[in-house]
Amino acid sequence: MPGIKDAKCVLVLGATSGIGRALALAIHNLDSQPTVIVSGRRQERLNELAREGERIRTARVDINTTEGNLKQFVEDTVAKYPDLDAVIFSSGIQHIFDFSKPETIDLSTEFQDEISTNYISIFKLIVMFLPHFLKLSEKGRPSFIVPISSGLSIVPAATVPNYSATKAALHSLSITLRLQLSKTKVQVIEILPPLVESELHDHQGKTPALSKVWMPLKEFTDRAIEGLIRGDPNVPVGSAAQQFDQFEKGKQEAAQKFYERMLSLS
Ligand SMILES: NC(=O)c1ccc[n+]([C@@H]2O[C@H](COP(=O)([O-])OP(=O)(O)OC[C@H]3O[C@@H](n4cnc5c(N)ncnc54)[C@H](OP(=O)(O)O)[C@@H]3O)[C@@H](O)[C@H]2O)c1
Repeated sequence: MPGIKDAKCVLVLGATSGIGRALALAIHNLDSQPTVIVSGRRQERLNELAREGERIRTARVDINTTEGNLKQFVEDTVAKYPDLDAVIFSSGIQHIFDFSKPETIDLSTEFQDEISTNYISIFKLIVMFLPHFLKLSEKGRPSFIVPISSGLSIVPAATVPNYSATKAALHSLSITLRLQLSKTKVQVIEILPPLVESELHDHQGKTPALSKVWMPLKEFTDRAIEGLIRGDPNVPVGSAAQQFDQFEKGKQEAAQKFYERMLSLS
């Protein structure tokens, strides 16, 4: 099965810290020597990352933006890197919402930004990158769409209800994308991390408490890379793997049967 070892040029969205940064460096160091384009909003972090590897390139973007800006970003990236054959969606944000204090829930900014960053923009970017990947497929070349959801896509965390819902949406999207693209060489590899060492929770002031129980970033990256190299459709890690085994077994197959039934009706 083709895996990330077969990719020539990998775009990592959300590479300025945490999981995206670690995956970008690990992929850059594979024997296959791919070009890695690192992306995110913080240019100084991108510059610093570019100094870490000879085949690391930068492409700054804020994905929480208009459809026109996203389209421009995709067109520019594909024009500059025609070999682009993998996109890893590691960009994400997380907010705590307390329904027992509804007046504290920021509907106009935090709620909207979380949905837009974690789901809507990723959906749009996938749709925008697909024509390029489908052209590669016609030439017999594999390509990779790598959404990063979460164990919370399977078992939601009540403290972060909207975040959990965006991850559940991304997980569902990964299943249906994989089914619709199954006759092409476009592979969907969903990574489902457990709680992992990163900056995701810094603004919540929760990092000291969480750091006692999170998976160290290096351990997570080593395990995720193994699944990416093998080209596993799902790469659940740590507690997310236990949740996957408990609640997700047979879901892809059930969705496939349902899809085939729907297709046979038309
Ligand atoms: N750490 C965990 O416990 C955990 C668990 C399960 C799933 N995940 C998921 O794993 C992914 C990586 O998270 P992480 O833990 O590595 O968190 P992180 O260290 O906070 O990294 C998040 C990345 O997303 C980027 N980002 C955020 N908003 C963006 C925007 N509007 N446009 C472009 N880039 C944006 C950030 O870059 P800039 O700020 O420079 O834009 C940063 O590089 C996320 O999707 C997260 O939901 C994390």
